[in-house]
Amino acid sequence: MKTKKIIVANWKMNPLNTKDAIKLFSSIKSTSQKNKKTSVVVCSPSIFLPVLSKYSSIKCALGAQNMHFETNGAFTGEISAKMLKDSKVSYVILGHSERRAMGEDDIFINQKIKMAIKSGITPILCVGEKERTGDAWYLHAVKTQVDGCLEGLRPSDLAKIVIAYEPVWAIGKDSVRVATPSECEEMVIYIRKVLSDKFGAKNAQTPMIVYGGSVDSKEAQDFMMNGGIDGFLVGRASLNPKEFEKIVQIVDLI
Ligand code: PGA
Repeated sequence: MKTKKIIVANWKMNPLNTKDAIKLFSSIKSTSQKNKKTSVVVCSPSIFLPVLSKYSSIKCALGAQNMHFETNGAFTGEISAKMLKDSKVSYVILGHSERRAMGEDDIFINQKIKMAIKSGITPILCVGEKERTGDAWYLHAVKTQVDGCLEGLRPSDLAKIVIAYEPVWAIGKDSVRVATPSECEEMVIYIRKVLSDKFGAKNAQTPMIVYGGSVDSKEAQDFMMNGGIDGFLVGRASLNPKEFEKIVQIVDLI
């Protein structure tokens, strides 16, 4: 586990208006300002980014939930890295399972990751298996994603990314069950091994690895102590300021 920690709030397609987005961001920001070693990143729907950029800070940074790999042009509905930079966005979630379910593949995500790094935006790469069966297929699934999404990066680029391990079966209100810290730890070790084979042992240690999937304040401490992670990617609980504050406090104390 690294000394510095990171907590990513993934608001997904919430809240419904600018007023509520500012209220929620301001509340998360006031909590985050007290942190000693934890950076908070709020990944808001794109439409709120310009207005939230006026409120963001080093301890409470702004993130997007997606971006395109081209700079500009005929890409209806898409947003580029340059546009995100214009709104002081410093992180972007890429490869989230909800976007993979809409058709994004590792090749597409890889192009976006390269563009984010080139633009000085930290990609938060989401990887995770759809299901856990008795065999080791889930390890193979995550290796394929890590290899494919990071293909062609320089070893030094690993210091510029965050990896979120998000088992798809543990995400959202319809999740099959909550993952355990030991399942998480096993995967973190495995991801670092895949990185080590590809980029060398030293570089494999550089990216922060966080866990995502039904994170709440009840499980947070156990996951931080025993999951081998450097923080969390929080979905639903990031829309509840009190619950999110508890998670941030737990992480910052560890
Ligand atoms: P959840 O979402 O915390 O609501 O399960 C996590 C995510 O999908 O990023």
